[in-house]
Amino acid sequence: MRLIATAYPVESAVMSGGTPWWKTAVIYQVYPRSFADSGGDGIGDLPGIIAHLDHLAWLGVDALWLSPFYRSPMADFGYDVADYCDVDPLFGSLADFDDLVSAAHERGLRVIVDWVPNHTSDQHPWFVESRSGRDSPKRDWYVWRDPAPDGGPPNNWVETWGGGPAWTLDPASGQYYLRLFLPAQPDLNWQNPEVRHAMFDVVRFWLDRGVDGFRIDVVHALGKDPALPDDPAELIPIPHSALHHDPRTHAILRELRQLLDAYPGEPMMVGEVYLLDTHLVAEHYGDGDELHLAFNFPPLYCPWERDAWRDQIERAEAELGPRGAWPTWVLSNHDNRRHRTRYGTEARARAAAVLLLTLRGTPFLYAGEELGLEDAEVPAERRVDPGDRDGCRAPLPWNADPRHGWPVADPWLPWPPHPDELNVATEQADPGSMLHLYRRLLAERHRSAALATGACALLEAPPGVLAYERVADDDRLVVLVNFTDQARPIRVTGTVLVASDGQGEGLGLSGELGADQAVVVRPDR
Ligand code: GLC
Repeated sequence: MRLIATAYPVESAVMSGGTPWWKTAVIYQVYPRSFADSGGDGIGDLPGIIAHLDHLAWLGVDALWLSPFYRSPMADFGYDVADYCDVDPLFGSLADFDDLVSAAHERGLRVIVDWVPNHTSDQHPWFVESRSGRDSPKRDWYVWRDPAPDGGPPNNWVETWGGGPAWTLDPASGQYYLRLFLPAQPDLNWQNPEVRHAMFDVVRFWLDRGVDGFRIDVVHALGKDPALPDDPAELIPIPHSALHHDPRTHAILRELRQLLDAYPGEPMMVGEVYLLDTHLVAEHYGDGDELHLAFNFPPLYCPWERDAWRDQIERAEAELGPRGAWPTWVLSNHDNRRHRTRYGTEARARAAAVLLLTLRGTPFLYAGEELGLEDAEVPAERRVDPGDRDGCRAPLPWNADPRHGWPVADPWLPWPPHPDELNVATEQADPGSMLHLYRRLLAERHRSAALATGACALLEAPPGVLAYERVADDDRLVVLVNFTDQARPIRVTGTVLVASDGQGEGLGLSGELGADQAVVVRPDR
């Protein structure tokens, strides 16, 4: 095979001194409501997570990212925070959180928490104070504006769900407040230094409790031009939260980076930069002085097609490489249909797991993808999310019992399809399961310097097959992913280390890649 893309700088071998932990880590997202319930109310909680840490250590992930567990009225299931420095009683207590961090650290698992700085809940005392009147000392903590001359919203920004304006009128004061998401999620005004201080204190609060980093919600929306200029008419009705970018955000990120860098243990921040252009995502890494990592969502939205994926990989390398920025890869999360559902078959989801865990960059897993879970079918009367994301938030089945390891038969959302087979205990007992495929891939990733930090170069391959090599020093692996449902001839010779369908592992590659199959191969010299 011939190289068709330039190799990018080779990192030093895995675990060698100087490689930050977040470059070699695989990060596992836990949506606390849906992970495991210890309390019996059908809603997952922190003690439930603690009870299953051994499973995550067995699986082989390196860090957990916890979606919000803070005090919240739950209008957006915790992304509407009413107290950033306390645990909602639904999920437990601060003591439970401390126990979780210790128990995770004892098992070598780092803990990343979600920080939601763009907006608070409308029940947050800061907003209650701010809306109390135009002369409130906290009025300027949020984004208040007079109505437009016609009495309508101050600009043309569109809210994230529903297609209406991103503004809510407060009849008492006659002004509108900005809220890019729900009316219950007013945007903070990050141009106000008191807001920065208060929110940076939140970061310190969690660092002092021992967290290893933050996933930053909607981070690209923090900096705002006080003039709040209209969006271009041709982009309406795209939600403003998917369009917003402003140079003021970079100054905030640099300040935050300095705060984190002053702490021991290399705390990391990964930003949700929800801009569907990798070039704009890359800007949020700064010159190595802003985000450590940023989610890049265009690959999540790209179809399961070889050429589309090759473009995404080339694009990520071309945009991030020159900045020395480290890529991330994610296929599923709590905001999108699971990739098992999007791609349609288990065989494709297995091939996608091989891709996700062998690309150059930090992979993020979403709890349940390692079981091959599909989205739940949620009947209309049980839908609860304003953004129609209930399906991917279905509870995790832990075993084949009728309650699947939950204390109640009917948790807050219905089970995902086939919980009798697709559950942790059943899959743990079956070496051919998706769960074991993830475990083998994670083990291989930890064994191989090439997979962890090595350079990535695309290789020439037959139609419908994506081929790339990963190289670090004398460690060289080739990955082949068949995006088609037909077998494809392959000229690489070598030993199969991991196969998406488990076929032929430990044996020589047969000259053919099976339909929908993906393999990690140690090539013959
Ligand atoms: C982010 C979160 C999403 C939430 C939104 C508003 O996009 O991932 O779940 O609804 O921000 O906080």
